Amino acid sequence: MVRHTREQWGTRAGFLMAAIGSAVGLGNIWRFPYIAYDNGGGAFLVPYLVALLTAGIPLLILEYAVGHRFRSSPPLAYRRLWRPAEAIGWWQVAICFVIAVYYAVIIAWAIRYTFFSVGQRWGEDPDAFFFVDFLRIGDAPGMVSGYVSGVAWPLIAVWALVLGVLALGIRNGVEKANRVFIPLLVALFLIMVIQALTLDGAATGLDALFTPDWGAMADGGVWIAAYGQIFFSLSVGFGIMVTYASYLRPRTDLTGSGLVAGFANSSFEILAGIGVFAALGFMATRTGAAVDEVATSGLGLAFVAFPQIISSLPVGADLFGVLFFASLVVAGLSSLISIVQVIVSAVHDRTGLGRVPTVLLVGGATALASILLFPTHGGLFFLDVFDHFINQYGIALAALVLIVAVSWIARRLPMLQRHVDAVSSVKLGLWWRLTLGALTPVLLGLMMWDSLRAELAQNYGDYPTGFLLAAGWGVALGAIVFGVVVSLVPWRTADALAARDFEAASHGTEGER
Ligand code: ALA
Repeated sequence: MVRHTREQWGTRAGFLMAAIGSAVGLGNIWRFPYIAYDNGGGAFLVPYLVALLTAGIPLLILEYAVGHRFRSSPPLAYRRLWRPAEAIGWWQVAICFVIAVYYAVIIAWAIRYTFFSVGQRWGEDPDAFFFVDFLRIGDAPGMVSGYVSGVAWPLIAVWALVLGVLALGIRNGVEKANRVFIPLLVALFLIMVIQALTLDGAATGLDALFTPDWGAMADGGVWIAAYGQIFFSLSVGFGIMVTYASYLRPRTDLTGSGLVAGFANSSFEILAGIGVFAALGFMATRTGAAVDEVATSGLGLAFVAFPQIISSLPVGADLFGVLFFASLVVAGLSSLISIVQVIVSAVHDRTGLGRVPTVLLVGGATALASILLFPTHGGLFFLDVFDHFINQYGIALAALVLIVAVSWIARRLPMLQRHVDAVSSVKLGLWWRLTLGALTPVLLGLMMWDSLRAELAQNYGDYPTGFLLAAGWGVALGAIVFGVVVSLVPWRTADALAARDFEAASHGTEGER
């Protein structure tokens, strides 16, 4: 067994940059604007803020507390919190694997589109360019045939970079990379937003985004969308924040860090909404269409609507395109690094294998799965279905199960609260215990039930049932089975490591003992 002492972040600012880098990702730039618009525009901000304060930040602090208190990645940290909860940790590791394999390919597309922006290489028909010329998508979902080298090589580059950063470790790799990524992202994105705000019709777009449809607030689906967006965007429910907090120094202000990370992420998200809708307003004014006709959802917004907008810009089209797609690349990379770190850290903690061999082994296996599956002609269908199912029945469900296990079954909230209060400037009050102990599990449970009913009533995206059973339900259930099975494997090495880490974790946390 190789004994290792746990790495640490160089500074708290370095940790905060990494936590914000993980949170700010593809979810902020393309997901938030259309989710907000589809769900009541300006009125969406009310459920969104409620979800941030009642679920996002409390859960973020819970994840910080568990990672910091037990100084390990999710499986081992949960195991030491309450033995049966180890399964939830491995479940989150499996979720991170599934997200990582498809998240990387969106970054790879954005890399190509950064270059396509110079001279608008997508031509007159960005829709056909994206689906037919660039991705060469097949006719039937589920077929794994053909291989598109134009997608494969940027994908290989993404993985080489991510694994390289992870191999350098927390302080020399992840922290340093985020110190470059975050300022770069803020600079690129601010210039892009300012350019968007100067376009004709920008105000029309902002009106569409911010004019409240108060009726929408009575719709339960709007609240589900707000909670879903907060989880994905804040990176909670994947185990990322447990992992990142496990590398913190013993005396670190946890509530302060949670509040900074939560509000920084939401500020960036609202800024992204402003930039994207200003650009959509320009397009709507130019074509005489309504903003909702231009505002397509998901990938279509980034890779079809935006190229259309860029091509119509009277001046600075190349610059605008490069800024937009480079922002997606930078935001995506810092999030992908955090997602893969969960897998690497879990295996490293469990087996005692050195950092570089672990990165090569498990990071390499994740990269291989991504590189083999997604550049095929069927890649887009897999991406779409993985994304939907692993978000709905992976992240959100794992978050629900974790909260119920910790607060209702194992009753560990008071102990975690004492730990957080012992090291933080802002003490956790009744608010934290009430939201995690009552409000969030009940609300999330109702949402999950509602969402499952809708799912069973109609096939997602009208895909064939066989494909959804394999790539959707199969993958989501597979992650749960993986979690349970791996947690039952008796590994002596892991027990020895757990005992050693328990000693190490006890220092500086007298408050809860
Ligand atoms: N939090 C990351 C995002 O928003 C995963 O994309």
